Amino acid sequence: MNNNPIGVYDSGFGGLSVWRELHRALPCESLIYLGDGKNCPYGSLPAERIKELAEESVRELIGRGCKMVVVACNTATAAAISHLRATFDIPIVGLEPAVKPACAMTRTKVVGVLATERSLKGEKFLSTVARYGEGVEVIKAVGEGFVEAVERNEEQEPATERLVRQVVEPIIERGADVIVLGCTHYPFLRDVIARVVGEREVAIIDSGTAVEKRVESLLDEYDLRAAEDNVPCIEFITFADEEYRQRLQDKALGK
Ligand code: DGL
Repeated sequence: MNNNPIGVYDSGFGGLSVWRELHRALPCESLIYLGDGKNCPYGSLPAERIKELAEESVRELIGRGCKMVVVACNTATAAAISHLRATFDIPIVGLEPAVKPACAMTRTKVVGVLATERSLKGEKFLSTVARYGEGVEVIKAVGEGFVEAVERNEEQEPATERLVRQVVEPIIERGADVIVLGCTHYPFLRDVIARVVGEREVAIIDSGTAVEKRVESLLDEYDLRAAEDNVPCIEFITFADEEYRQRLQDKALGK
């Protein structure tokens, strides 16, 4: 048993899509969410720079007593997860695009994966595609401008829908019946993506639930669950300014 917080980290707002799952499923757990904000977006940064940023972030969360850290960022996972696990001795959970379930569920044998440039170049991603994507055409696409739109809370703007349409429409036209949201910012655009999909039968999937299950199994494995009577503390921190921190908190709490 351990009442210390679980740290959740992302370049910015995106990891809140994972935070939501954790907060819903683990009501006794204290959570500290670190949305870097100062260095966002990470998507096209060199892997070495992302490693430094991720190490600084995880160190900050461990300094605040976190018993486990969830890297709620596909990009930071792709660039830095091995480095983080070799550097720190608490359980560190990473996130990857849900390619395996997508390849298992597609009927048209065409799957679209939306992610950042860095994630799509990641070794783990490429080996997962090679391993589970046999006989499946995996179309990879960067959601150009998606992260920035979510960071500005512009999900419902017509300009954002145009951006999404430009990327998603060609994937559907090529026959994809599953679209993988391989960046934690993208679930905030799920409604917009669903509007672009319209009546067509296309599943839109992300990794949120799978990560939450993984966190639960590690809490059990390491005997780290908080007590049932723990009064959880929910905190939001950033390397950006107070205004950003407040926006993070408002987005998480649905204000
Ligand atoms: N939310 C992140 C991800 O899951 C990174 C977005 C970015 O900073 O470019 O990949």
